[in-house]
Amino acid sequence: MKKTVLVSGGAGFIGSHVTVELLEAGYDVVVADNFSNCDRTCYEGVKQITGREDLPLEVMDFCDAVAVKALFAKYPIDAVIHFAAYKAVGESVAQPLKYYKNNLTSFLNVLEAAQEQGGCNVLFSSSATVYGEPDSVPVTEATPRKPATSPYGNTKTMCEDILRDAVKASEGKLKGILLRYFNPIGAHPSALIGELPRGVPNNLVPFITQTAIGKRECLSIFGNDYPTPDGTCLRDYIDIVDLAKAHVFAVTRMLEGKMKQACEVFNVGTGRPVSVLELVNAFEKVNGLKLNYKFAPRRPGDVTAIWADPSLANTEMGWKATRTVEETLKAAWAWEKHLAGK
Ligand code: UD1
Repeated sequence: MKKTVLVSGGAGFIGSHVTVELLEAGYDVVVADNFSNCDRTCYEGVKQITGREDLPLEVMDFCDAVAVKALFAKYPIDAVIHFAAYKAVGESVAQPLKYYKNNLTSFLNVLEAAQEQGGCNVLFSSSATVYGEPDSVPVTEATPRKPATSPYGNTKTMCEDILRDAVKASEGKLKGILLRYFNPIGAHPSALIGELPRGVPNNLVPFITQTAIGKRECLSIFGNDYPTPDGTCLRDYIDIVDLAKAHVFAVTRMLEGKMKQACEVFNVGTGRPVSVLELVNAFEKVNGLKLNYKFAPRRPGDVTAIWADPSLANTEMGWKATRTVEETLKAAWAWEKHLAGK
């Protein structure tokens, strides 16, 4: 029988790509979203890509405990992937309570409902932000976590601990995987789903594509005096489809009983450091255009350099990132043009 995966925040950037990969791998998916930070574009895009006009959609808020319990009662949920959360680093500094309330309450409600139904497999979307400014790179899963530089980052660290503790106390009924994402970028090769930031983008690639299309005048590169080869920050940019596939490997690992511990953690990255300037140059080259950019002061809270050692995910889960930065930047540009109707 087909297994059912609940994807909270399934209409968002990562959630929609994960839904596509799960459906293509033969899982049934229930998408749940309150559309607080996205519209229906990606949900409709997922249906178009997969031909699944019947893809279940529950419009609901995960902070509503009664609604979350009703959801678990309605569907035979074998695994849940939890994305439903606020994610703007700067906003979280300005409005910390909003972030703690939303990101912690929604996850606690999922875990409570999972516990009440007698157990579940829970995959939590964590972030490389939990490593803070690491003492050495690349980081492995054993690299110590550091205090996060924002309330958003703190919610990731806290949710990791909450899941670990809940799994430990559940006597085998609850299983958990924490995936720590590095920098997810790009779009589906169909250009039917991608990133849809509201307002001015905080993240680099949406800012690049919006500058290229003419929505923004000029990209600011935050800092060119970092102790790195070209003075700009180093990150591990991971293609969104590669990242989405990691979720299929993780869910299958949980459902097929292949986990070695009841709560496991994996870095989801490429292992390849790329500087901001290299990314900008690659975008220009692969898409044959010139980008208007300037160097600007450092952005508070940015770490100098972080990239993954993904060998645990490679060997244990059998997952590996396959796409080149060039392919990913082409897809990101195709998506921006699709949005502009070009
Ligand atoms: C941030 C979050 C991370 C989150 C990720 C994906 C922190 C510290 N970082 O990562 O948790 O998972 O977003 O949403 O919590 N840059 C520019 N100009 C711009 C925008 C960015 O130069 O207009 C530079 C930044 O200084 C940085 C790099 O591009 O060096 C990547 O920035 P960004 O895309 O915002 O991701 P992170 O800050 O690495």
